[in-house]
Amino acid sequence: MKATAKAHTNIALIKYWGKRDESLILPMNNSLSLTLDGFYTTTTAEFREDLTADRFHLNDRLVDGTEYQRVTAFLDRIRRAAGRPDVFADIHSTNHVPTAAGFASSASGFAALAAAAAKAIGLQVTDPELSMLTRQGSGSACRSIYGGFVEWEKGTKADGSDSYAVPIAPKDHWDLRVAAVVLSSSEKKILSREGMKRTVETSPFYPAWVDNIPDDLAAIKQGISQKDFEKVGEIAEANCLRMHATTLAASPPFSYWHSTTMAIMQAVQDLRVSGVPAFFTIDAGPNVKVLYLPEQEKIIRNTLQEIPGVHDVTVSRPGEGVSYI
Ligand code: DP6
Repeated sequence: MKATAKAHTNIALIKYWGKRDESLILPMNNSLSLTLDGFYTTTTAEFREDLTADRFHLNDRLVDGTEYQRVTAFLDRIRRAAGRPDVFADIHSTNHVPTAAGFASSASGFAALAAAAAKAIGLQVTDPELSMLTRQGSGSACRSIYGGFVEWEKGTKADGSDSYAVPIAPKDHWDLRVAAVVLSSSEKKILSREGMKRTVETSPFYPAWVDNIPDDLAAIKQGISQKDFEKVGEIAEANCLRMHATTLAASPPFSYWHSTTMAIMQAVQDLRVSGVPAFFTIDAGPNVKVLYLPEQEKIIRNTLQEIPGVHDVTVSRPGEGVSYI
């Protein structure tokens, strides 16, 4: 009744932004990501007859409050699926992230938790089934089941049985780099869950966001298959800007950007003007990820590290999917 799994985080090039079902976590739109080798979570799950409640340790610290509630609610789904409502789990997770900046750990966290817990409780699942299960913990995490480029198909069924990730191209398909730029300051943040809900409910820009997705997806998939860096970068950057534009039109309006976020965006656009191909993307927070090709490593690092307000730059390559230890 014990298993350990490892999962990497992923960065969306076409963003998941908005749910059509909040309980099952069913998205309004398909999304597409690249799994990264630089950030991962290792989780050990042990189901024990003697426990009367779940216990969740993150980086050796016992967790309570909302974070614990989210984990235990997710374990309830696993227990139901396995037909074992009576056993509780002891969970130990370690997040391998460069700083404590709350950096994109939920995708790797829920993917590793789903894989370890399903295996520990004896649930036999295929990869699509594991992705579907993971989705119900955190949407973006369902893409971390696979390595390389991954698409999350939104599906059309009300029960969510056709909403899961599918691999598009393996990690060895293309040697890209993603620099994760972490800022030194972090303000009170609006969680992605809360931010996307407000946007769906109030932003007049939201329907335009959804309408545009099929075009972006078709074009980026073609770019990935042809390894056309300019095309992939341009689409990813534009898609990110469109997502963030929806938040500015929400009520009340909000933005995830800090002044340093914008300085990094500007620096990346200046690099392009000077002939260095690089593109940015930003999730529901102030940190920025910069996409580039290996030959630009030096100039990218130097440029990003010099920007005032940048705390840390960590470079990732395409990473692998879930594995068991
Ligand atoms: C902006 O997966 O964190 O990073 O499903 O509510 O847990 P929940 O949301 P989450 O949202 C991620 C949003 C995003 C875009 C993306 O990763 O596709």
